Amino acid sequence: MAIDRVISPKPIESADGGSPDADANWALRPRTIAEYVGQRELIERLSIAIEAAKSRGDALEHLLLHGPPGLGKTTLAYVVAAELGTKVYTTSGPALARGTDLVGALTRLEHGDILFIDEIHRLPIAVEEFIYPAMEDFRIDVPLDTGLNARTVQIKCKPFTLIGATTRAGLLSSPLRSRFGLAHHLRYYERPDLESILHRSSGLLGIERPEVSGLAAIAARSRGTPRIANRLLRRARDYAQVRADGLIDDAVVSRALQLEGVDELGLDDLDRAYLRTIGTVFGGGPVGLEAVAATMNEDAGTIEDVLEPYLLQIGFLARTRRGRMLTSAGADHLGPGVHAGRDASPSSGTAEDGLFRE
Ligand SMILES: Nc1ncnc2c1ncn2[C@@H]1O[C@H](COP(=O)(O)OP(=O)(O)OP(=O)(O)O)[C@@H](O)[C@H]1O
Ligand SMILES: [Mg+2]
Repeated sequence: MAIDRVISPKPIESADGGSPDADANWALRPRTIAEYVGQRELIERLSIAIEAAKSRGDALEHLLLHGPPGLGKTTLAYVVAAELGTKVYTTSGPALARGTDLVGALTRLEHGDILFIDEIHRLPIAVEEFIYPAMEDFRIDVPLDTGLNARTVQIKCKPFTLIGATTRAGLLSSPLRSRFGLAHHLRYYERPDLESILHRSSGLLGIERPEVSGLAAIAARSRGTPRIANRLLRRARDYAQVRADGLIDDAVVSRALQLEGVDELGLDDLDRAYLRTIGTVFGGGPVGLEAVAATMNEDAGTIEDVLEPYLLQIGFLARTRRGRMLTSAGADHLGPGVHAGRDASPSSGTAEDGLFRE
């Protein structure tokens, strides 16, 4: 499956392993709470926790951020550190093989510093167990020798804040989950929020003629995701520069993104092919995911993780007890010859399946 889709919520990597996308996003990252757009409830609760911790002189409680990719979890970790006036050490679940991989980082942390672990659901169990005493008592047990001579030494570390980020909170073990004092879910962004993010990014990118209608057109195609919004903005900017004298209005955006196969709701060829398969080959469903995947010659897991969350979110797809179903809104979007499904059983799934609720 094409992983370099322009509407992918994950950073796009180039062939040499670099990521121009991630670099550009880095420059566009808000640095303070004041610059962080949207997620108001979360920000409100987090600001209170930050202020309270600061005034007591404590480290902030451990914080778990969960939600779909590209919504600003990593950004938020840095924003929290900036607000606390502390430093961030970053690592990720898959990068940690043994518990002792963390000894260096943990002992270097100053009071109140942040240890950011991305993709924390992919932490090996050995590392997880190593982290528990660090999270609870700011103590690490380092094994010396193995076998008969095995013993451990305890090292104290300074009170720190672990910020864990995950797209799959459902995969977190419950002992780990329960050790986070704060847990927040990031939601897809509303269009006005995406428009202000785009407005800010246009300024940072030095875009000269961003029309309100153009930014609104990009926001509508961004699937509620700032990372996608910023990427589409760069595509529109290139197109505008070469074909439209730098002007970014709705007509220019529409032409620019049509070239990329992105329609007015932010669906690309692959999304439409998936919906169309259900709506034509399977008469709208309900149909099992495996059957659709086999027909399309795609991997079922990838469809579930990559295509479905947004299609469920906008109500084009329904998950029922008996399988996937194209909704009438979805069928209308694809046009004549595509049928919506019919199913009497109540829907049993939403885009947030697999995430736990607060
Ligand atoms: N609230 C926001 N305001 C402005 N820009 C934002 C906001 N949230 C995210 N962004 C932009 O979106 C980009 C992606 O955000 P970030 O890398 O933090 O996402 P993420 O949730 O960590 O994604 P992943 O799960 O893929 O790691 C950032 O570089 C930033 O430019
Ligand atoms: Mg991230």
